[in-house]
Amino acid sequence: MINTQAFFDTKTNTVTYLVWHDESREALVIDPVLDYEPHAARLDTYSADGVIKAVEDKGLTLTWVLDTHAHADHLSAGHYIREKTGAKLGIGAHIEQVQSFFHPFFGAPNEPIHTETFDALFKDGQTFQLGDNTVKVLFTPGHTAACVTYLIADMAFVGDTLFMPDYGTARADFPGGNSSILYKSIQKILSLPETTRIMVGHDYRPEGRDVHRWESTVADQRKNIHLNGKTEADYVEMRDARDATLSAPRLILPALQVNIHGGALPPVERDGHIYLKIPINRI
Ligand SMILES: [Fe+2]
Repeated sequence: MINTQAFFDTKTNTVTYLVWHDESREALVIDPVLDYEPHAARLDTYSADGVIKAVEDKGLTLTWVLDTHAHADHLSAGHYIREKTGAKLGIGAHIEQVQSFFHPFFGAPNEPIHTETFDALFKDGQTFQLGDNTVKVLFTPGHTAACVTYLIADMAFVGDTLFMPDYGTARADFPGGNSSILYKSIQKILSLPETTRIMVGHDYRPEGRDVHRWESTVADQRKNIHLNGKTEADYVEMRDARDATLSAPRLILPALQVNIHGGALPPVERDGHIYLKIPINRI
């Protein structure tokens, strides 16, 4: 039997999931948050430590820490949890493409693609085990080029492809994003059995709903306010028009430069400190 517990980060509206197999006590974490206060450039690990404590309290062994994509709105605690627990870190194989765009963007055109911070670069359809349960990875690009969905038992962890049905879908205007590709990925998710539980990566609580929610079903998502009855052309028009009005996420610059390496920070410089880069007028 597969169980899950969600952790909601109110600062970035991110949902982190702990998923475990009851009998074997094997566990994995999806989309953990590394806390970052941008005004003082201060990092903290209380969110990730809370997840690690839950793993210990339940007597679980963490075997995998997974990102659904290189997030632009929060820093990933993937690398931190990998170092702390020995769990393997996995992400979609197209992260290499995302690195090749963002290395030059952050002023390092000669930095080669490097993936030593990851233990697995998943291909479409690739599977791995959680106890006696088979986890399947589906490519679901569009929000970014490297987005994947993790299928575990009756659940689909869809990252930022879909949000709750009363809120809509993710933006597709980041470098490598594409609204037509996102539409096709969403259709792939909606073709799963209709009772499949859809576990989303964020909730922003639309007006009129006072609690955060992150779980729906394929049947619910077929009525998602961004999709209901829309053709691909309708969707692309709506998505692109809406994206043109959205401002850049607050943490996009620190987040992307560490998340393309699984949340690993740049090396310590000669003065003993770590520096991130802030490119001017690039967004
Ligand atoms: Fe995202």
